Amino acid sequence: MTEGPPLSLGVLVSGTGSNLQAILDAVTAGTLNARVKVVISNRAGVQALDRARAAGVTALTIPHKDFPSRESFDRALVSALREAEVDWIALAGFMRVLTPEFLRAFPGRIINIHPALLPAFPGVDAAQQALGYGVKITGCTVHFVDQGVDSGKIIAQRAVLVETGDDLATLAARIHGAEHELFVAVLRDIADGRVGPFCSEG
Ligand code: GRF
Repeated sequence: MTEGPPLSLGVLVSGTGSNLQAILDAVTAGTLNARVKVVISNRAGVQALDRARAAGVTALTIPHKDFPSRESFDRALVSALREAEVDWIALAGFMRVLTPEFLRAFPGRIINIHPALLPAFPGVDAAQQALGYGVKITGCTVHFVDQGVDSGKIIAQRAVLVETGDDLATLAARIHGAEHELFVAVLRDIADGRVGPFCSEG
């Protein structure tokens, strides 16, 4: 790990938070030069919030249902993230599409993890889609976030073989394991300066 100021990270979640846990564990182990400054969930009571608190990280719930529009919800997110002084945003199972206003607040510095080899199988149920098609190789992708659904520029991918007899549970579990490694690896590349903010002209 290179020396330098730690990456200031905000993590947005909606559920279990196993990817968040992988990030927190890497920070604790000293293998990722980052600080998770805040974790924000749009759903109350999810496990990801407990994981954040257990690691001593500020955990906030900002329920999207409390806001009259996507824009006003996103403004609340931006304000909490700015208050926490984060530089990069990691979407770790965050189930909301972000508005252009949010994207402009953190230009080129928002990344998402998706459980398929994009551009195959965007959206929800990616592992189920992979099984349905009968693909023999699937995987996971970390990409920059743009206005689409799982459509931004790809940063890194990892392949996962679909094995004979796989069902949704076994395949999803194997993809999840790959996600945990890939997400941390990409964040390490960002923290150590090997990956910079996405620049659309570049
Ligand atoms: C992951 O499969 C991620 O790719 C997708 O949502 C899931 C979140 O899992 N966007 P977890 O909450 O990190 O366990």
